[in-house]
This record gives sequence, C-alpha cells and structure tokens, in this order.
Amino acid sequence: MCGIVGYVGPKNATSLLVDGLKRLEYRGYDSAGVSLMNGAGVETRKAKGKIAMLEKAIGAHPIKGNVGIAHTRWATHGPPNECNAHPHHDCTGTISVVHNGIIENYSPLRDMLKKTGHTFVSDTDTEVLAHLIEAAFDGNLEEAVVDALALVEGTYGIAVISSRDPEKIVAARKGSPLLIGLGEGENYVASDVAAILQHTRHVVYLDDGEMAVLTRDAYRVTDLNAQTVKKRVSRIDWDLEQIEKGGFAHFMLKEIMEQPQSIENTMRGRSVDEDGFSKLGGLNLSKDELQHFDHIIITACGTSWHSALIGKMMIEEHARIRCEVEYASEFRYRNPIVTDRTLCIAISQSGETADTLAAMREAKRRGAKTLGLVNVVGSTIAREDDGGIYLHAGPEIGVASTKAFTSQVVALTLLTLKLARLRTMSVVQGRDVTQALERLPQQVQSILDRAAEIEQIAEAFVEAKNFLYLGRGYNFPVALEGALKLKEISYIHAEGYPAAEMKHGPIALIDENMPVVFIAPHDSVFDKVVSNVQEVKARGGRVIVITSRDEPSLEGKIDYEIRIPETIDMLNPILAVIPLQLLAYYIAAKRGLNVDQPRNLAKSVTVE
Ligand code: M6R
Repeated sequence: MCGIVGYVGPKNATSLLVDGLKRLEYRGYDSAGVSLMNGAGVETRKAKGKIAMLEKAIGAHPIKGNVGIAHTRWATHGPPNECNAHPHHDCTGTISVVHNGIIENYSPLRDMLKKTGHTFVSDTDTEVLAHLIEAAFDGNLEEAVVDALALVEGTYGIAVISSRDPEKIVAARKGSPLLIGLGEGENYVASDVAAILQHTRHVVYLDDGEMAVLTRDAYRVTDLNAQTVKKRVSRIDWDLEQIEKGGFAHFMLKEIMEQPQSIENTMRGRSVDEDGFSKLGGLNLSKDELQHFDHIIITACGTSWHSALIGKMMIEEHARIRCEVEYASEFRYRNPIVTDRTLCIAISQSGETADTLAAMREAKRRGAKTLGLVNVVGSTIAREDDGGIYLHAGPEIGVASTKAFTSQVVALTLLTLKLARLRTMSVVQGRDVTQALERLPQQVQSILDRAAEIEQIAEAFVEAKNFLYLGRGYNFPVALEGALKLKEISYIHAEGYPAAEMKHGPIALIDENMPVVFIAPHDSVFDKVVSNVQEVKARGGRVIVITSRDEPSLEGKIDYEIRIPETIDMLNPILAVIPLQLLAYYIAAKRGLNVDQPRNLAKSVTVE
C-alpha cells in the first residue's frame, strides 16, 4: 500500500524522509521517490524497486532542503517504474504531489487538462492532481489545492509542496489516512504513524474532508471551505512493531480485518447500479469480442483456484458460457481444447506464480485471448495478459491468502455481470447483483465485529487432529478454502468436500473426535445440507455450522453456530469464508505457530 511522509523544519529533510519511507516498507511497495525545496526550486529523485535504489539515486545526485515530501508507491494505474513513481509534477515543475488512493475520474480530467495545453508524462491518476493545482494556482497553495480537489472524485490522502509558496506543506484527506506529527519548531505529515514515530509521539489525525497547512512553527486544519477545524492532539503509546501490524498480532489478522475496505476498493467505480452493469476498463475487449466467446478456461493455484471454482459457477449460471477450471500445474502439460472462441482467465494474487503464468502462456500460444485477475500491478501475468482486472486489495503480506480471495470473488462477479448483461441477464437481475455487492462491505464488517465469538469457538479445537469442511453449490469451494486455510497455518489435517459426497467415503471418519464445519447459508441447497448435518450428528461428530437463519430442524444438532448475513447465492462465499479465515487464524495463533510465515511455504511460488 502506498505511503506518504513529509517534513518542514530546520533539519536537512532528505535523510529524514528516506528514513520515514523505510519505516513504511512493511506495507509493501514497488517504487519510491522524494521531492525537496532546494532553495531554487523543487528537486525530485525517484526509483523503481526498493528504498535502497532511491538512496542510490540520491547518492549519485544529492539534494538538500528543509521542506519535502516522499512516497512509496504500490502501483494502481500504470506499471511500477521510475516515471510512474511519486512525487508527480505540473508542467512548470514547481508543484510536487504525493498521493494515496484512487482518482476515479482521472481519465476525463486528464482529457480536459490536455485540451487546455497540459502535458502528461506518467500513466498515473495522481498526475492530474498536480496539473489541476497548477491550473488553479494564484499565489496561494492551499487555495489552489481546494479548487483542484473540488473537481476530483475518488479517494485521496495527499501532500503537496510548491516553490511558488515554498515554506509550507499542504495535506488533505478523503478516504485515505493522513496525520500530522507535531515537533518543536518542525512538523510532519504521514499516512502512517510508523513513518514519524522516531521523531514525535504527538499527532493529529485528519478526518475526511479536512485539509492541513504545515509550516515550521504552526499547523492549521480546515475543512474544504476554509473553516478552521479544532483538532485533538493524540499521544501514541504503541511501539513500531505494533504499528506495522496496525495493532494486530499478525499480518494475517490485519488483512482479514481489512476486508470491508479491500472489497470496496475492488468494486470502486466498477459496479454501476442504475444499469445493473459493471465497468471494467482494463479488459481491452470490445463488446463484439466479449459476445464471441463460447468457452472459458480459468486457471490458477491454491486459494486462487478456489475462487476460480466460484467464478465458473457464476459464469455458467448467469452468463451461460461453458466454463472449465484447471489447476495451472495440470493445464500446462495437458493437450487442452482451445479455440479462437476461448477466453483464458488466469487468477493470481501475486501475478508471479510460475504454474499460472505458464498455463496462461500456453493458452495464449494455442490462440486463446487471456485475462489476468491479479492483485500486484505490473506483475508478470499482468504484463503478459491481453487485458485484466486488478484486484486493488492492497498488499497481502501474510502467506495465507485472505483479502485477495474475497477480492477475486468480487472481481469475478463484476466480470460475470459484464458477460451476462451482454447475453441473457436483464437490467433487474443485474441490479440485484450490483445492490448485493454494495451491501457487502458493511455485511463483512458485521461478521468481523463478532470475531471474539469465533475466537472462543477456536479455543475448543486447539488440540484437534483432523477437520472436515462441507458445503454445496457455491459453498463447496468455500469448504475447500476453509480446509486449506486451517491446514497451511495450523498444520491440522483438514479436508473440504461437497457435503453430499460425504456418504461416499469420508463418513467413515466421523466420530466424537472429528469436528465438521458446515457452510450452510440459506440458499437454494440449504435443505439438502441440513440432512447432511443430521447424518454427522447421528454419528457423534462435533458440528460447527455457518448459517444465516434460524432452522428449527437443526435444534440440538449443532455444537457451535456462526451467523452470517443474508445475500444472493453467488455472493455467499464472500461472507461465509470470513468466519473460516478467523477460525483458522485463532486456532493457529493459540497453538503458538508462526501464522504469517508457516513452515515450508512462500508467499509467491515462482518455481514449478
Ligand atoms: O499468488 P497466487 O494467487 O498465484 O498464489 C497461489 C497460491 O500459491 C496461493 O493461493 C496459496 O495457496 C496460499 N498460500 C493460500 O493461502
């Protein structure tokens, strides 16, 4: 995730800003940059890759100054390279901007600015901000920032400097965190307190719609109508390690808890409610091409393969296109049927998984069009596919994939909408889906708010040796995902099965030592799953049920129940997987295991 740090004071800002960026490295980033007021103007250094590369660039041409801003970028618009790294500038090079968030209407704004003579050098949404501020500038930086932000839709946390109003930093926030750090004769701005903690523990958190003007000796917070806002100064008592993990014990828990925001980010600007449609700019496929496909292959590994199974069900049910899901490692060595009417979708959080990349290349070689559903912008799959959908879930650091899974299912839903509305799905059916999507972040939050209940259930299973996860329809892949989460971080043997398959073998395993997790929201196959619960209970199994309503026939047959809100069938996996992620997490944490880096596993499997 992108990071911001800014400084105004008596010290040389270069090393202070670079040190601040290093404190933000844990958030994940792909490039970095710094701008300083050097006495004559704004001077900038940027580099692709690690902060060490930025240090090298600065070392080659040192800069000095007492006012500056710096940034670590996690690419969203345009690949990670030096040009797209922040800070970004206006045409005159006198304004410098760093930005976290997404400017949704950057494309029309860019067109408008180009028509009035502005020249753009990067692919980023951020660069429009620098040019908008330039267009509005009339001697006072904060006034220009207010005018520019009035034209912007989307989310931002920004810090801006200008050599035409050189003694200050202007910062503003909407939907992306930003705080001010207070020092003696110096002030800071940062997106994350970790960046400035070594200098001050006194901070002011900005709220959405607020702007701050920082000078050496003072700061002022206003709303976007220039009305002063009185703010409280908070004292930070956390240490650095606590802050990096947002106060959570592990990145995995932090990432589970981030899902209301990550889901929102995947949907942002893409789900069009009035038309029951989705806007997916990156597909690079015309309407005719989208209608031409009669066969889809989705290829992936691990958790991404599970989301692929859900995608298949959605696409076949709603878009009525034949769809197969292939383990990437198998697909690459088969002799699969691929025609010019085949669309191959490669799903990968990292965009670097060797098997998935090879499978996508093989499908392309055989004549298929390829789409990547990828989280890491500029990754190899994203560069080599014909088009794609970025997940925008933010960096996933825990080895166990959590927020990428829910974002993958959201992205697959948006793709299904697109394909289905071009075929048989009506506006009204489309709207049911877009409205259900809009409700998701708040519904996920309501489950997360009850994490303590799940932690208590986990307590009862810390010593378990085996686990069975059962679900039907859209929830069968959720059963697989629940089992994978548990086994990879807790080392407890776990299997996922379609609930009705149990009687063809696994039922032999059931006794009082076998916990069985049923994923049973009230959907079209709920009654069938109820019978399977009864079969397990009759054999003494310990039953945990994830469900969405009271069911009288289950009374006395359930040992533990976890409630989730109701949604449409195809979105149940997003809600049902949350308790399973938490259950796996709490069991592993209570076993004292290294949850974020389980043994033998890597975050990105770049070998065959
Ligand atoms: O980066 P990818 O989505 O391509 O990774 C695929 C799998 O390696 C990954 O999902 C793995 O199964 C996770 N550890 C699951 O939590």
